[in-house]
Amino acid sequence: MDRTQATRSPFLAVLDGTPLDPPPFWMMRQAGRYLPEYRQVRAEAGDFLTLCYTPKLAAEVTLQPIRRYGFDAAIIFSDILVVPHALGVDLTFEAGEGPRLAPLTDAAGLAMLRGELDPARTHPVYEAIASVRASLPAEVALIGFCGAPWTVATYMVAGCGTDDQAPARLLALREEKLFQSLIDRLVEASIIHLSGQVAAGADAVQVFDTWSGVLDPLSFERWCAEPLRRIVSGLRALHPGVPVIAFPKGASLEALERLADTGINAIGLDWTADRTAARARLSGKVALQGNLDPLRLIAGGDALEEEVARIRADFAGAPHIFNLGHGIRPETPLAHVERLVEAVRRAR
Ligand code: CP3
Repeated sequence: MDRTQATRSPFLAVLDGTPLDPPPFWMMRQAGRYLPEYRQVRAEAGDFLTLCYTPKLAAEVTLQPIRRYGFDAAIIFSDILVVPHALGVDLTFEAGEGPRLAPLTDAAGLAMLRGELDPARTHPVYEAIASVRASLPAEVALIGFCGAPWTVATYMVAGCGTDDQAPARLLALREEKLFQSLIDRLVEASIIHLSGQVAAGADAVQVFDTWSGVLDPLSFERWCAEPLRRIVSGLRALHPGVPVIAFPKGASLEALERLADTGINAIGLDWTADRTAARARLSGKVALQGNLDPLRLIAGGDALEEEVARIRADFAGAPHIFNLGHGIRPETPLAHVERLVEAVRRAR
């Protein structure tokens, strides 16, 4: 279908299963440190969490990449760790070091979690969403999000980022019941938080499972696929038909096939995915999103342009949303982002 035939948002049309050429385009972490205007608001806010919890500022940085590049979707500026924070877990972000949480390692830690999400943490997100939706053009979609229970649990158990998420993997092996209870709490919290975002005006949601690639197949089914299935059905019970995208970074093709049966509309592929195989095995069931290596965007030149052309050719005729294979990095030159936008929009 020609792009002009997509009546509403091209992004939502593809999530409905309609192939478009050129494909709709947004970038993970599109509001962020590579943008000088972001760095300015971030400095004004003082720290990252203040930026997340001040609706006016969060709305402003959400809109910045739309103004500059005209992407087809905005993603609300927030963080996946807002959910544990709203469950009462202490959270700070140290400059250059990433997140620090009070580690949850036993039943006493689980018992300390709040029964309900703290509205002081979640409502600023909904307020920011309502304000962004009101100022976005109708054809630009707004994405709400949460972290997948597994990925959020890895940060809650370790209290920080680690190389291979060994602390959470070990807890899941040693204290399976405790870990299952933690996942169950996160499934419930995710449904409520995503539902709040949709009620406030998000047109679609994405579930970020950044660490799904470190699990064996059985553990993937239990800690990633099954919780996602429950999130999708719980959310759809409240908001019938709301589109859901999963981003299971590092997951094998077999694992992706399992996810495609959870009721989601699209799967985000990271840059290591074999596009031809992924298209052959998944494209009848879900739309595909991705998958430019963020380092190609830093390198620029042929490494960038040729891969963009290959990605578009590999997904031609299939429902595809152009994106990176993971978040854009702070050191990415703006000139290369401009080249990317031009290359994704160019007639083939
Ligand atoms: O995509 C977007 O533009 C929306 C905003 C967004 C952020 N984080 C803002 C952010 C989204 C969708 C996230 C998701 C997120 N947060 C994930 C999953 C996706 C992924 O990238 O793998 C994870 C694992 C987190 C947790 C997190 N937040 C870490 C580990 C860090 C520190 C690493 C880093 O990049 O600095 C953050 C901080 C963070 N979240 C920043 C931004 C823009 C940088 C903070 C700053 O401005 O100083």
